[in-house]
Amino acid sequence: MAAKEQLIIFDTTLRDGEQSPGASMTRDEKIRIARSLERMHADVIEAGFPIASPGDFESVKAVAETVRESTVCGLARALDKDIDRAGEALANAERARIHTFIATSPIHMKTKLRMTPDQVVDQAVSAVKRARRYTDNIEFSPEDAGRSDPDFLCRVIESVIDAGATTINIPDTVGYNIPQQFGKLVAQLIERVPNSDKAVFSVHCHNDLGLAVANSLSAVLNGARQVECTINGLGERAGNASLEEIVMTVRTRQDVFPCDTRIDTTQIVPTSRLVSTVTGFAVQPNKAIVGANAFAHESGIHQDGVLKSRETYEIMRAQDVGWLENRMVLGKHSGRNAFRARLAEIGIELSSEQELNDAFARFKVLADKKHDIYDEDLQALVSETESATYEDLYRLVSLKVCSETGEVPHAIVTLSAEGDETSGESEGSGPVDATFKAIESIVDSRTSLQIYSVNAITGGTDAQGEVTVRLEKGGRIVNGQGADTDIVIASAKAYLNALNKLAQRVRRAHPQIEHV
Ligand code: KIV
Ligand code: ZN
Repeated sequence: MAAKEQLIIFDTTLRDGEQSPGASMTRDEKIRIARSLERMHADVIEAGFPIASPGDFESVKAVAETVRESTVCGLARALDKDIDRAGEALANAERARIHTFIATSPIHMKTKLRMTPDQVVDQAVSAVKRARRYTDNIEFSPEDAGRSDPDFLCRVIESVIDAGATTINIPDTVGYNIPQQFGKLVAQLIERVPNSDKAVFSVHCHNDLGLAVANSLSAVLNGARQVECTINGLGERAGNASLEEIVMTVRTRQDVFPCDTRIDTTQIVPTSRLVSTVTGFAVQPNKAIVGANAFAHESGIHQDGVLKSRETYEIMRAQDVGWLENRMVLGKHSGRNAFRARLAEIGIELSSEQELNDAFARFKVLADKKHDIYDEDLQALVSETESATYEDLYRLVSLKVCSETGEVPHAIVTLSAEGDETSGESEGSGPVDATFKAIESIVDSRTSLQIYSVNAITGGTDAQGEVTVRLEKGGRIVNGQGADTDIVIASAKAYLNALNKLAQRVRRAHPQIEHV
């Protein structure tokens, strides 16, 4: 039997995923996710858009210096300054790719770029040539290809391949296409572009109509050999094609697909969890592959069938995508070495002894409250340790909340702000509301609360609650996370984490401003 062709998995969680409002990630968070993607054997990791901000540049550089097996990619508009910045950020990568793009649809060329089609072709070609100064691995995207004229696409693609592009990515930027039509477009381009055999054809689909995965797979059946996707389908607006759905469809339906990926599927669930913890975007329970209910059988008929033979109702095995039985990994008597060893086993490397000591101290506090500590608890604990490495403006010193039937909930909170302790109190419609109002009585942040959500990290009433708080101020959106066995304390931690992120951004942009 002929060997299957490889389907290249290009993960853009750290770039297009990060473009979701509120999903911005710190450099250290990006490194953690990149390591997890590398463990999963993602072929290409798009780490960011280096020209977008100094922070983005630093993140791409750091990921490029950390990841050794996967190719690390940086995005650049078809402009010299973008390409030079991407080249600089990727200078130390073991394997680097520059991804450059320019819009080709009539509406984008006319109203956004104000350029003629001839000018667009020239700029695309000169961008690819410039990118070749830094690496031979060049990807070109005709942005909004899904609404572009196929004849013009053929012309642009032929020219950029001649100029040295090695991957041609066809984006459905606005999620407008439908599977049959999109597959046909890709087949047509491969067929009609005379030098198409010199490049890998790729697709990048957005999910505005809920068709990103279907469109991507249709393209694969029509000759695309790279798919751009994100963990949990994270991405602008309705998101991008979900990596786990693409990978598991191709793996499960090898009778239909002429290719397969190199992905180690057992890393899917841990990576999904990590992305969800870092961004604060909870995964819906019925989400395919990574949702909490994806492998749960509730109805008696299903349970009976599965017990008799798993294949009656299950097309994949939960353990193949990384669902493990919750295992008690550590407890109150576990020592520092066992703690360090378990972190290493689940792929968490802390960057210093100090961070390990901080995380271990938190672990001991948690172990006093919670008998069984699971891997998920460790993930949350480390996220907290890492977010605490911010130059935090506010820290929670103490919180007292009274909540009683027939009484108005009341909270007293003490915060330390750069060494000074201040207390505030407030009533509220519930204990969390009272807590947030008590914090605001001290900080007066003038932010607006956009999202508040609580998830149990593991099962049982002693589980830690993981809280996400999204705050907005002056158009800036941040997500804060906090975890604790007491959900009111977790809420206070999440609220302060969001305030600290906002304060950190303000201080970076305007060092003279002291408060949020
Ligand atoms: O959606 C899009 O068109 C993009 C490009 C930069 C590939 O993200
Ligand atoms: Zn996109």
